[in-house]
Amino acid sequence: MYIVVLAGGSGTRFWPLSRKSTPKQLMSVFGGKSMLQRTVERVLPLKPKRILVVTNALQAAETRNQLAYIEEVPVDVIEEPVGRNTAPAIGLAASIIARFDPDGVMAVLPADHYILDEDTFRATLQQASEVAQTGSLVTLGITPTRPETGYGYIEAAAAGGSGAVGVKRFVEKPNLERALEFLATGRFYWNSGMFVWGACTILDRIAAHMPELSGALAKLSFDSDVWELADLKPQIEEIYGSIKGESIDFGVMEKAESVQVIPASFGWSDVGSWSALPEVIEPGEDGHVVIAAKGSVSVGSNQCLAYGNGKMVALVGVQDLIVVDTPDALLVCAKSAAQDVKKVVEELERRG
Ligand code: GDD
Ligand code: MG
Repeated sequence: MYIVVLAGGSGTRFWPLSRKSTPKQLMSVFGGKSMLQRTVERVLPLKPKRILVVTNALQAAETRNQLAYIEEVPVDVIEEPVGRNTAPAIGLAASIIARFDPDGVMAVLPADHYILDEDTFRATLQQASEVAQTGSLVTLGITPTRPETGYGYIEAAAAGGSGAVGVKRFVEKPNLERALEFLATGRFYWNSGMFVWGACTILDRIAAHMPELSGALAKLSFDSDVWELADLKPQIEEIYGSIKGESIDFGVMEKAESVQVIPASFGWSDVGSWSALPEVIEPGEDGHVVIAAKGSVSVGSNQCLAYGNGKMVALVGVQDLIVVDTPDALLVCAKSAAQDVKKVVEELERRG
């Protein structure tokens, strides 16, 4: 199996801790290793043939730095000159794998997800890899617990079970009304954004549903017969200059046939914003999650989230508040508005 790590996101909802050059996957909010390092370490026991990390030029140096200590498996950091969303990143990795190993199966993993039970996660990937060898596109589905509109939904042909089930349809990010309907049927899973498929299989589907991207990727030419990617850099730059941004979800998954979902039961969060931290860090006193702080005091407060930047944090008479302190920026935000933190980044970009 090959592992393809998608690590090109900008993580704007974790501002001010995440910045363009150090987005969520490169941060170590939870202390110790970054989410990218954890993503890579988590798959090492599977002994993958190679790990391909697709990221963008701004983050490439730090990505290489952070992964330099991995010795067990060869790691390639593939640099995109600009982000064009997930379909080109996946298509590029699939083209490389298919060139050197036409029967290669790849697991696509976002670099910034939290996984609780790693043994079950690895067993699920093995299972998915077996299903993928039959020519299916396999997605890992999460049993939904709320009508989340930030996720894609997968409708299974049948409910229940733990094995692979056929997918009836795939709906990327529905509105609230539809999400509520989906939940009520008991037949829908959240798309975890983790996919397993043959490199040639996904290239076929890209050719069928995204002919422009397919045509651009077909221009890649490899001089070497052994795994060597250095020559690709100028070619990748040229290809990225000519293609449009599109996610694999819209570009392929919503249209493709032979999609299977494997219900995942390993405990998962995509840690989408500051308000998701209590899903991955056990709240302490008064339900607060206080990190990077020299201790904390809570007086008449509860359910807050604070990043102390090494300072003592005192919470007095406040509820459901997010406070994030960094050397040059301070965030004060209502927990219910955590998704809107990305609008701060948009506004700052407008101001230049
Ligand atoms: N290399 C690269 N280049 N990676 C990218 C790019 C890009 O241009 N854009 C996004 N990524 C990476 C992100 O870093 C992240 O790890 C992953 O691809 C998914 O991108 P997101 O931007 O986080 O997607 P999303 O959260 O809106 O939606 C996807 O994930 C949800 C689950 O977290 C979809 O697959 C949804 O269907 C899914 O429910
Ligand atoms: Mg995401």
